[in-house]
Amino acid sequence: MSGQLREAIILAVLVPDLFAVLVLFAFVSGVYAAGLKCRLQTDDKRRAILKELGILGAITDKTFVGLFHPYCNAGGGGERVLWAAVEHFQKTAPNIVSVVYTGDTDASKEDIVDKVKARFGISLRSDTLHLAYLKSRHLVEDKAWPRFTLLGQSLGSMVLGYEAMKQLIPDVYIDTMGYAFTFHVVRAIAPSSTPIGAYVHYPTISTDMLNRVRDRKAGHTNTGGVARSSLLSSGKLLYYHIFAWLYSASLNRADVLMANSTWTKSHVDSLLKSSQNTPFSSTLVKTAKIVYPPCDTHGLENFLLEGRQRVIMSLAQFRPEKEHATQLYAMRDLLEMNPEYRNGANEVKLVLLGSSRNDEDAARVESLRQLAKKLGVNESVEFVVNAPWKEVQGWLSRSSIGFSTMIDEHFGINVVEFLAAGLIPVVHASAGPFLDIVVPYQGQPTGFHAKDASEFARKLDEALMLSPSSQLSMRKRGRALASEKFSTEQFVKGWDESWRELDALRSRRR
Ligand SMILES: *[C@@H]1O[C@H](CO)[C@@H](O)[C@H](O)[C@H]1NC(C)=O
Ligand SMILES: *[C@@H]1O[C@H](CO)[C@@H](O)[C@H](O)[C@H]1NC(C)=O
Repeated sequence: MSGQLREAIILAVLVPDLFAVLVLFAFVSGVYAAGLKCRLQTDDKRRAILKELGILGAITDKTFVGLFHPYCNAGGGGERVLWAAVEHFQKTAPNIVSVVYTGDTDASKEDIVDKVKARFGISLRSDTLHLAYLKSRHLVEDKAWPRFTLLGQSLGSMVLGYEAMKQLIPDVYIDTMGYAFTFHVVRAIAPSSTPIGAYVHYPTISTDMLNRVRDRKAGHTNTGGVARSSLLSSGKLLYYHIFAWLYSASLNRADVLMANSTWTKSHVDSLLKSSQNTPFSSTLVKTAKIVYPPCDTHGLENFLLEGRQRVIMSLAQFRPEKEHATQLYAMRDLLEMNPEYRNGANEVKLVLLGSSRNDEDAARVESLRQLAKKLGVNESVEFVVNAPWKEVQGWLSRSSIGFSTMIDEHFGINVVEFLAAGLIPVVHASAGPFLDIVVPYQGQPTGFHAKDASEFARKLDEALMLSPSSQLSMRKRGRALASEKFSTEQFVKGWDESWRELDALRSRRR
């Protein structure tokens, strides 16, 4: 080999390597410097917050709990969890200052407090609540990452997490929205004593998703094109696996994890296992703890349990995964088994209530109407689209059976509403409705499960055939279950246990 060639090869190999090392070095020192700067400013920032809140006293008397929830003003179930937790802190621990990291830069604290009151009936005090506004929330939106959405959003969330730490390093960091990748940032920037907790509503990636790609099934996250091509499928599978590992390594950096349901817990637990004992993982978390979110069943518990009409109601957005068609097929089978249910004294009606958000949903409703005709059940089926809550409540107070056919629904707040309202649920035998909600109460059933249209038809019939007294006691059990298991009191109890663990860690590590 000529000397020149050898030199060229050495250069070609060495230069990029050196460059990579330099970049890595610059990055690590950059993070370190940024962390140091944030840490040095912590006390001043805390003083400024106390001053703004009008709190007298030393910062050392206060515990600053950082709650990462970039969409804190969205008014959904996840937000109810956040605000119920803040309310609990305010009621039981006056030394805690709740710092909510939010990207809702267009809403003032007053706006948010008012909305929380109106939407959830939760009264927050403003004097121990500080909002730390984040400007880069667009980085975690779907549309910022048309390709590789999961990875892109996760990287975006790290930037957002960095922005949060720049605003304030808390004493305890809790993610309540599902941004586990921020844990790396918190670990890099906050002092190592800072405990990290998370309330997980759903895993960012689930083994179900992996299996769907592996089996090349088209689904809601797997387009038909990808399902058909084996090369694309393998590519996507590899991407999912790498992502799942990264996600699992992130989860493992937390100290305490809560999951909102059995389904979520089992996925989080199996993800945790896949990257345990890596150099990064916290030694503490081995499993997540189930803390059911508070469900608002307010007003539903007062409906009379007797004198219900022979109405089967479904309450679900007209989205594809709700499997409304199955309900129509089940209705056809039910009417074929019992022609006398078509009219007269034994008449049974199926009412599909739900919201339609856009043209696609509207088209779906139309095709369901056509299907009902085709199956010859249109006279027994009614669609109630985008009804106001008052009207929905009316149906919940009159109907006899609550019908839900979605497969693998993580939870199913509508099913809790059925129970609270006194309906007998007939639901798919999977995930939330099966594992968490329609479960025995004091050893006795609270409803029925099925897996396909004909089984659903049989279960609907069984529910309709129950004697009045068995019906009544089943309705009572269901209502008791809903109000005990999914109440705010129950949520607060679980949250508080996790909080104590985090707080104890903080004291121990200092
Ligand atoms: C858990 O969170 C997921 C995602 O937001 C939601 O679909 C599910 O209903 C939640 N579970 C409970 C118990 O509320
Ligand atoms: C049900 O469909 C049949 C056949 O298409 C039609 O004759 C009938 O008027 C429809 N009934 C209702 C209530 O729409």
